Amino acid sequence: MKEATEEIWPDLRKQFPLQYDRIYLNTSTIGITPRSVLDSMYSHMEGCEKTGDIGHSTKLWQDVKAGIALLLNCNDTEIALTRNTTEGVNIVCNGLSFNQGDEIITSTHEHVGNTIPWIIRSKRDKLRIRTFEPSKESKETLERIAGLIGPRTRAISLPHVSCASGQILPVEAIGNLVKNQQIFYFVDGAQAVGNIPVNVDSIGCHGYAASGHKWLCGPNGTGFLYIRKNMLESVDAHHVGAYSNIGDFSLRNCKASLINSAQRYEYGTINTSLIHGLNSTINFWSEIDHTKVWAQNKQLTSFFRLGLLDIGAEVITPTESSSILTFKFSGLHYEDLQQKLWKEHKIRLRGIYEGNFNALRASIHIYNSCDEIRRVLQALREAVTELLK
Ligand SMILES: Cc1ncc(COP(=O)(O)O)c(C=O)c1O
Repeated sequence: MKEATEEIWPDLRKQFPLQYDRIYLNTSTIGITPRSVLDSMYSHMEGCEKTGDIGHSTKLWQDVKAGIALLLNCNDTEIALTRNTTEGVNIVCNGLSFNQGDEIITSTHEHVGNTIPWIIRSKRDKLRIRTFEPSKESKETLERIAGLIGPRTRAISLPHVSCASGQILPVEAIGNLVKNQQIFYFVDGAQAVGNIPVNVDSIGCHGYAASGHKWLCGPNGTGFLYIRKNMLESVDAHHVGAYSNIGDFSLRNCKASLINSAQRYEYGTINTSLIHGLNSTINFWSEIDHTKVWAQNKQLTSFFRLGLLDIGAEVITPTESSSILTFKFSGLHYEDLQQKLWKEHKIRLRGIYEGNFNALRASIHIYNSCDEIRRVLQALREAVTELLK
C-alpha cells in the first residue's frame, strides 16, 4: 500500500494548488485542476485579451476532440463540446422524438442533472418514466431492466457509475439487452470518465455525456457529449447557430444544413480558454500512466473500505466498484457528521441524499494519499463516538 502511494505521490501532489491543510475527497463533484492546466488557461485568456483574438481555432477543436475520442474509444466526429454533463443530458433528452405514452427507463440512483430534464420532458409530452433500483448483482439489475422494457419503451437513461453508491452498472450487458430494439440507449458518464476505463463502442450506447471538471480534473464548465454517428438524425439539434451549420444557409429559401457530425450541437461564442484548458488537461493525463493512477486509487479505496468497516460503518458501495465509497453510520444524520469533519478537520465529503441513503461519499483521486485516509478514519472514529454519546 505504502510503496504504491509513495511511487507517484508526492511529486504529483505538488502539481495541484489544493492547500495542504485540507483533505479533499469530493472529486465526484469537482476535480482539482493541475497548476499547469491553470497556467496554460490563464495565458491563453490573457493572450486573447491582448490581441482581441477570439481564441477559437479548428486545430484546437480537432485536438481536444481527438483526445476525448481516445478516452472514450470513438471517432472525434462523434464528440460535441458542452459545458457539463447536464448539457449533454439536455441535448439528448430534448432532441429525441417521442409520442404521448412513450416510456423512458431510468434508475433510482440518478443525479438531479439526469433526472430533471427527463421529468420536464415527460410532463411536456405526456411520457411515462419507469424506474429500477440498481442491484448489487449485475444479473438482478439486468432482470429488473428487462422487466420494465415493453412495446412503448423508447429510451433508457442510466449512469455508468452511480453518483449515489459509486457502483459501476453493467453497461455493456445492458447495451446487449437493448440492442436492435427501438430504444435510445443513453449513459451518463459523469462519474466514469477519468475514474475508470470507458469504451463507448463496447458499451453499445447511442449517447454518452460527461464533464471535464470531475475525474479528469479539467477546468470548471467543460464537458462533452458522444452521439453515435448513425444517431445524429435521431437527436434533433435544438440549440444551433454559428458552428452547427456548414455555412450554406439561406433565409430566402429557409434552408440551412447542419454539419454531419456531433459539432451540430455546438453553437455561438464560448470561453475558448476553457477549451484550451481542457486540451491541456488531456495532455496532462497523456503524460501520466492513467492505469497506475487507477490502481493507486483502487488500493486507497480498499484500504479506506476496510478501515470504515473496522469503525462500524455500513459501506453501501459494493466491492469491485470505482474509487467512490458511500458509507453511513447507524443512528447518525449524514449532515451532522459531514459538518463536524469539515469544521474540525477540513475534510471535504459529499452528503448523499440520493436514493434515500442518508450517507457520506468519499471520492479518492490522484491527489489523495494513504496518510490522508488514515487521518480521515481517525477523525471519523472520534466524530462518530462523540456524536453518538
Ligand atoms: C452521475 C452524474 N450526472 C450528472 C452530474 C452533473 O454534472 P454537471 O454538473 O457537470 O452537469 C453529476 C454531478 O455530480 C453526476 O454525478
